[in-house]
Amino acid sequence: MKKILVTGGAGFIGSNFVNYILTNRDDLFLVNLDKLTYAGNLENLKEVENHKNYSFIKGDITNNELVDYLFKKYSFNYVINFAAESHVDRSILGSEVFFRSNVVGTNVLLEASRRYGIEKFVQISTDEVYGSLGPTGLFTETTPVSPNSPYSSSKAASDLMALSFFHTFGLPVVITRCSNNYGPFQFPEKLIPLMIINSLNGKKLPVYGDGLNVRDWVYVIDHNRAVEIVLEQGKAGEVYNIGASREMKNINIVKLILSKLTKPEGLIEYVKDRPGHDRRYAIDSSKIQNELGWKPEFDFENAINETIEWYLKNKNWWQGIITGEYQKYYKTLYGDR
Ligand SMILES: NC(=O)c1ccc[n+]([C@@H]2O[C@H](COP(=O)([O-])OP(=O)(O)OC[C@H]3O[C@@H](n4cnc5c(N)ncnc54)[C@H](O)[C@@H]3O)[C@@H](O)[C@H]2O)c1
Repeated sequence: MKKILVTGGAGFIGSNFVNYILTNRDDLFLVNLDKLTYAGNLENLKEVENHKNYSFIKGDITNNELVDYLFKKYSFNYVINFAAESHVDRSILGSEVFFRSNVVGTNVLLEASRRYGIEKFVQISTDEVYGSLGPTGLFTETTPVSPNSPYSSSKAASDLMALSFFHTFGLPVVITRCSNNYGPFQFPEKLIPLMIINSLNGKKLPVYGDGLNVRDWVYVIDHNRAVEIVLEQGKAGEVYNIGASREMKNINIVKLILSKLTKPEGLIEYVKDRPGHDRRYAIDSSKIQNELGWKPEFDFENAINETIEWYLKNKNWWQGIITGEYQKYYKTLYGDR
């Protein structure tokens, strides 16, 4: 049985990955190393917590001794590094933890992978490393990296570091750069859950700037299917873009959510734009489609409906989150609205 170190497996995408793999495969053993920051939540993993092919370790990827101990104990075949501070707005409020977790943490994992030897290291990255597009064009894997936020610059740094471990030491590293994800278990600070939850609570829906920033949306399971394929077939030293060609203006996503929930558009409130806000992301995923045979399976209209349904059915999940620290963060960002 192949053993995988999955980091950040209690967050949004990582927990969906763990649930997806343990439901669909019986030939992989997953060790989930997660620090359980504000974004990590073991509730996401209730269905699999006692699975025979699964073990959870609470810990920090920057902790050299712990990471070394886990590599020694488990002799991992693969590493998939989902762990990261992931929210652009938080990186603007304070960047240090982004560089510690995303850069230093990735370095610790790469060094251990080099020391012990592994078959594949998958670095989960983002299209945000490419910077911002004008009204036309798409990011390809050869688009120069040009990040604009502390978050995206920390991700770009870890990508380049990972690639350097391939070139210098021959470590079999593969990078995936995915567009914006949506689906169950996404932390309420991100656009889609934020708008669903505020609508349900009758609160204002804060929309940055003119609301015309464009993001390219992919369902989280499609992303994770791509990660699974890259893990097994991705060529070492390569970058693969992942996206579903579903560009949407932020304001249109917000209006769509309001209409599905039959709430008034009067709840929308335009707020001061995010500093350095990237205007448009759009991804060309033809490389992974042509070379590895992946393609998105989830249709946006159905998957967004299912996502909204999930938040309606799982109020306990998000009601437990939007208290305490979250309220403080929300107030810092959006004031009393
Ligand atoms: N959400 C998106 O739309 C998106 C798109 C493309 C790429 N990504 C990338 O995918 C990965 C996962 O994103 P997400 O949205 O699930 O993030 P998330 O914030 O929901 O989850 C991150 C997880 O990492 C854990 N973590 C953070 N720092 C850690 C550390 N030092 N040690 C161990 N665990 C730590 C957290 O506890 C949490 O469980 C990130 O690398 C992100 O950059 C996200």
